[in-house]
Amino acid sequence: MRVAVIGTGYVGLVAGACFADSGNDVICVDIDERKLEMLRKGEIPIYEPGLEGLVERNIAEKRLSFTSSYEEAVGTCDIVFLAVGTPPLPNGEPDLSFLKAAAEQVAKSMTGYRIIVNKSTVPIGSHRVVADWMNPHTKHPFDVASNPEFLKEGTAVDDFLKPDRVVLGTEKESVYKALAELYAPFVRQGNPVIWMDPVSAEITKYACNSFLATRISFMNELAVLCEKVGGDVEKVRIGMSTDIRIGRHFLYAGVGYGGSCFPKDVQALMATGRREDVPLSVITAAEEANARQKRHIVSRVRKHFGGNLSGKTFAIWGLAFKPNTDDMREAPALVIIDELVKVGAKTRVFDPVSMENARQTLKDKATFCKTYYETLEGADALVLVTEWNEFRNPDFKRVKQLLKQPVIFDGRNIFNPASLRQQGFTYYGVGR
Ligand SMILES: NC(=O)c1ccc[n+]([C@@H]2O[C@H](COP(=O)([O-])OP(=O)(O)OC[C@H]3O[C@@H](n4cnc5c(N)ncnc54)[C@H](O)[C@@H]3O)[C@@H](O)[C@H]2O)c1
Repeated sequence: MRVAVIGTGYVGLVAGACFADSGNDVICVDIDERKLEMLRKGEIPIYEPGLEGLVERNIAEKRLSFTSSYEEAVGTCDIVFLAVGTPPLPNGEPDLSFLKAAAEQVAKSMTGYRIIVNKSTVPIGSHRVVADWMNPHTKHPFDVASNPEFLKEGTAVDDFLKPDRVVLGTEKESVYKALAELYAPFVRQGNPVIWMDPVSAEITKYACNSFLATRISFMNELAVLCEKVGGDVEKVRIGMSTDIRIGRHFLYAGVGYGGSCFPKDVQALMATGRREDVPLSVITAAEEANARQKRHIVSRVRKHFGGNLSGKTFAIWGLAFKPNTDDMREAPALVIIDELVKVGAKTRVFDPVSMENARQTLKDKATFCKTYYETLEGADALVLVTEWNEFRNPDFKRVKQLLKQPVIFDGRNIFNPASLRQQGFTYYGVGR
């Protein structure tokens, strides 16, 4: 099939490369010329394991190309995926201006019938809104389907090639069949392709992210309770997760959820609830708990240092919102560093891949170090924010020598408290 993908970010680039890898001809469109220039040379503008090889191979085999021309991409394709960003507005609603611009451009560039697929996460009812935006700009027929994306940054290629399921939201059997055929190579092991109406597909995406965010917030609130009453949230987690009705995933207490999806999607669903006058109190509570959790570790730091952090320096390990990505959107590290700097502290930071992205946001709020050991030089404590693998087993003797005081705040509960205490550290985890 000939596929156009509009928006070449985390989702569009992965989807485009994976569709190309299964034999389709894919043209990816973006408005960011710098990004396109890099991609044409086979350079990947984001950090995503496994993506570079996939892009290189499919460019070389001429199945994948990049353009800023809608005419070139949409003029000859069968299916158009809309994968532009939908970032949050201050009122929590998603900003649909990128989607509107893309939909209008697609409509103007069509030369015949097209299937338009909303892959961006969009508010409930957007399949109709996209059609309304397109109608004045084309005389050609089209259908708009919803195909929410569930990939996770850090394992995006694997998730796309082997999805737990594919959700296809369309009223039309012919559209369902065309999209199911496109996805067939990725579900050969029998994972379901679920056909539903577009509204249910749109809700499914928000429901999944909001539910996962709620699990995290639930554990974070329990963690604070554990700290108060002397429990260990890690033991509670294991006790809970062995109940098969609950399961193992997304039960880890930490410094709060971040990233480009959970915060935005929870807020978007809350905004829909407000607009439709339907109380969505569970996710509202999850969001409030998350905002508190991002600051919670700083309150523990303050308490340890007697309430005054002025002149203190903190080593921060990890900046990205989670390991294996360079995405800094809504990263808890940004809030933690901000809170520390506000009360007069200094930060020395390191992340294996997101230093450049972090620099753009943090600017002079942090000293950017070349290694994670360098952050410790002259620091009063270590604050671990993102659980990159390389932080899991450091040389603690060296850590102790470099720190001014042997104090560790482990925001992800990756270290062994007993062993660290034995080595002379003061250790704080989350909820333990
Ligand atoms: N990142 C994720 O993990 C993830 C997972 C599932 C769903 N989603 C959803 O997918 C959508 C895209 O997310 P992302 O993280 O890939 O965003 P992104 O910001 O990484 O990429 C969006 C891309 O769209 C381009 N763009 C903007 N306007 C355009 C236009 N008019 N024409 C062509 N290109 C345009 C931008 O230049 C950018 O390259 C969002 O709705 C997001 O919620 C993201």
